[in-house]
Amino acid sequence: MEWKREYSTGIDEIDNQHKVLLSHFGMIELLIANNANWSKIHRELQSLQEYSEFHFQFEEALMRLFGYPELEVHQTQHASYLKEIDGKLNMRLNPYPDKALLRLIEAWLVNHISQSDQGYARHILSGARVVSAASQG
Ligand SMILES: [Fe+2]
Ligand SMILES: [Fe+2]
Repeated sequence: MEWKREYSTGIDEIDNQHKVLLSHFGMIELLIANNANWSKIHRELQSLQEYSEFHFQFEEALMRLFGYPELEVHQTQHASYLKEIDGKLNMRLNPYPDKALLRLIEAWLVNHISQSDQGYARHILSGARVVSAASQG
């Protein structure tokens, strides 16, 4: 899975984190293409989950900082993705992740990065002000 220009949010740190996410995914695909053993693939899937968790927390902190009005909707998208993938990983006894799981992850990442994340980036880049601690509910 390659990085495309239209994925860019205009915020370098976020773009870099998205590139890390996509490279974890690319690594999983590569391992599968090379018939790597189950433990390596599973470890990389775990890494993708762990990094996703970190990245989502980072984004949500940023949204809170800049008073993004759609924080809750976005948070729900993050949480339900993590839950869905966690569920599928835990349930899995067969050694290889199936194609459906990979396509699900890929579609979600591409869709989320190129649509939902653009929303908060636009909000921040359009000059949103930092919400002070005193004015936060
Ligand atoms: Fe993101
Ligand atoms: Fe996001």
